[in-house]
Formats: sequence, C-alpha cells, structure tokens
Amino acid sequence: MWQIILKRENEISLSRQLFYAMKDMILEGQIRSGEALPSSRGLAKDMSISRSTVNEAYDMLETEGYIVTHQGAPTRVKEGLYLEKHQKHHEEALFPVITLADKPYKVDFKTGQPDVSLFPRYVWNQMMYKSFEQLSDKDLGYFGTAGYESLRVEISHWLFRKRGLSAKPQDIFITSGTTQALSILVTMLSKAGLPFAVEDPCHRGLLEVIENSGNSILGISVDQEGMKTALLEAHDFSAVYVTPSHQFPLGSILTAERRIELIRLARQKKFYIIEDDYDSEFRYVGASVTPLYSMDKEQVLYTGSFSKTLYPALRIGFVILPPKLHSEWMYLRKHLDVQNPIVEQAALAEFLNQRKLDKYIQQISRMYEKKRKALTTSIYECFGEQCSILGDETGLHLVLKIPGAHFDEFFIEKCQNAGIRVFPIEHYCISKGNHMDQLMLGYGHLKVEEIQKSVSRLYNLIMDTE
Ligand SMILES: Cc1ncc(COP(=O)(O)O)c(C=O)c1O
Repeated sequence: MWQIILKRENEISLSRQLFYAMKDMILEGQIRSGEALPSSRGLAKDMSISRSTVNEAYDMLETEGYIVTHQGAPTRVKEGLYLEKHQKHHEEALFPVITLADKPYKVDFKTGQPDVSLFPRYVWNQMMYKSFEQLSDKDLGYFGTAGYESLRVEISHWLFRKRGLSAKPQDIFITSGTTQALSILVTMLSKAGLPFAVEDPCHRGLLEVIENSGNSILGISVDQEGMKTALLEAHDFSAVYVTPSHQFPLGSILTAERRIELIRLARQKKFYIIEDDYDSEFRYVGASVTPLYSMDKEQVLYTGSFSKTLYPALRIGFVILPPKLHSEWMYLRKHLDVQNPIVEQAALAEFLNQRKLDKYIQQISRMYEKKRKALTTSIYECFGEQCSILGDETGLHLVLKIPGAHFDEFFIEKCQNAGIRVFPIEHYCISKGNHMDQLMLGYGHLKVEEIQKSVSRLYNLIMDTE
C-alpha cells in the first residue's frame, strides 16, 4: 500500500494527517484520477490504525471534493484533480535572500535603529489598554483612511511644539511609516516617462520603493550644503525626494539658498517636493532646523515618522498634503490596506497629549548625546587628525571620512569576515566612485561602554591589523 507515515505524538489528529497525505498524493498523481480507494477496513488494517480514523479522513476528502462515494460501489478519486507540482520561479533568484535571524556581529554600526531600552513600556502598555477600553464601537469599524482623528490633532500640536510647523489636522494623514507614505506618493505623482529626482547618495530602501513601482531615477549629487539644486534646472521629473533637515546619509542641511531655489523650481516646473524629515527631533548642536514645508505648503509634501522617536515596529508615520491631493490619497490608501490599526493610534494620541513623547525625547536625546560624544572621541583618539566627521549634529548616525581610504566591496567583505557591520557611503550612491573614503556609522542602538572597543576594532581592520 501507500508509503504514508503518521505521527502519533502530533498535535494534528491521525485522521487529518491521513487526509493531508492522501490529498497531496491525489494532487501529485500518485493516487490517480478515477482510482478506487481501499475499503476503510482494509486501509485501517494495513496502517494499523482504527477504522474510524480512516472514515474521518475519507469524509474530509469527500467534503472537499477529492473523492466520490456511491452506494454499493468503491470510493473513487474524482476525475481531473492532478495539479502539476509548483516549479520554483527562476525570478526568485533575482531577489535577495531574506534571512529571518539577524546575523550576530561583534561590532555593529547598522543604521536606522533607535535605542529602545528607555522606552516607557509600562506607561505605553497602560495607554494601549485604556485606549482600547475607551474607544467607541464606531472607532472599531472602518473609521476612515485618513487616520484616527485625535491623533491627527495631537500630531498637529506636536509639530508646532517640536518643529515649529503649523499644519491643520485635516491635512495630516496617518501612514504606516514613511516607507508607505513614499510608496503611495510615488503612485500619485508619477508622470509618464519622467523620472523621480532623488539625492545621490540616498537611502537604499526608499530608492527601491520608487524604482520598484516602475519609475526611473535621476540622482542629483549632494555636498555639504545638501542637494545641488541647480542641477535640477535642466530636467523635468515627476517629483523630487529630499531629506533637507538631515541629508541621508551624508548629514548635511539644505542651505537657505538651495531651499529657495528648489521651491522656485517646483513652482515654475509644477512638481511636488517630497520632504522626508526622519530623525531631526534629535539635534545636538544649535537650534532645530525648520522644515522645508514651512516655506511652501502647496508644493512641499511633508513626511514624518515615529520610527526613530518611538520604535520602528510601531509603524506609524504621517504625511501632510494640500487639499487638492486629499481625495486621491484617500482613494489609494483605502485600496492598499484601508487604515492603520486603531489601538496604537489612540495610545499615541494620548502619549502626545500627556507630553510623554516630549519628555521621552529629552531623556533619550541625552543618552544619544553621550553615545555621539563617545563615538566622536573614540574616532579622533584612534584615527587622529587624518579623519573628519560629517553630519553628526543631528540624528543617530554620522559619517567618518578618511582621506585616501578606499571603502569598496572588498572592504565590506573583509568587514563581514571580521564580524563587523559598517556601510560605506558608496553603498548608497547612484553614481559610483565619489565617496570612496567615507563610512556611515549608526550608533543609536550601541551601548556607550561598547563604543570605544567597536571603534578600535574598526580602526584595526582599516589599518589591516585585525
Ligand atoms: C531616510 C529615512 N527616511 C525614513 C525613515 C523611516 O522610515 P519608516 O517611517 O518607514 O520606518 C528612515 C528609517 O531608517 C530613514 O533612514
């Protein structure tokens, strides 16, 4: 008889195991169309299981239409149920293999990871619990793609307090982070045949969001004054994506002249500017940088995120849109995933209302400032005067520049072999070869005590003594 192995110590009942096994064999043609099945008594005896187990399995097969029974005739497999085995798509190989577990690194300068050790989980948990209790029945339904109203109001107050921005709650749309905001905006703003202009270098994941939606890219190079906006003059494009408050990854702030030039061009050529303000809440030197949005609320679409200020897995961000884009946004969001989960939105509204986020940012900023100091001190101690540090006044990463160094793919491989995770700026570049001597070091997640050792290991590796 068939080679079916049933496991007795299994959470799945024997009858269901038998059903699954027979179903697969029917689909794969090992039990052929029209073939008569053995009697339940015969099969039970053959497999040393009870007859009722076989009967239950046969019932399941019949219910799902794999077999037919006729009074007084043997039970048979239904005709035409063969299904060719799924061949692995060769395209699969084109995509990177995603592993579930993060490889443990001895030294990890990954970016984009805030420190969540001080996050007031207990308070947050209380707010989640209380919010759920207080939500109305209506709130638990399809309450609207724009987002939870109280949260939109609180974000409007928050932006005013923290970023000096005045934005109406009705122009604020809650998203599942900037990544989703960009993905919808790209669909909305794409003009046939025209590329999206982005900073070069640029965040890889966000660049892929634009590319994967079938749009071409025009990389505009960046220097210490941010995107070289004069280079936009000669082109037409669908929209421009920028990080004016803290250029990712180089860290520069877009200067006033370039801001004006960018907005002038946007008005003249009628394109939108997507402003990504992803981590400027953490500013260690000087006053907070005013968002570009404050200069033109019609041409600039502002995106914010709580991924750095709270935690990335929260997946809450927002976009501020002028009224003429509201209905298209709502339409696209509704057909994408309808809305954000409600409880986290309500808890965040309360967190903002009680000024808990303000306090938390003050507290965690002090921690980041210590880490920044430990990192810059260690860098100068190890690398000396030969190096320079860029873009460390804001955010959770900085750029280490070592003139004459050549951080290429061999260097990455060398790092990987030594268990060190660090990203050369070249990794983020569209046109290659201009930033070979720079490394991006993310430090948000590092412990102050481990920073000195991490830098010294990196130094040894670069100097070839590791
Ligand atoms: C440049 C940039 N923009 C936006 C984000 C935030 O993305 P999200 O809100 O989807 O988590 C990040 C996070 O690392 C980032 O580096």
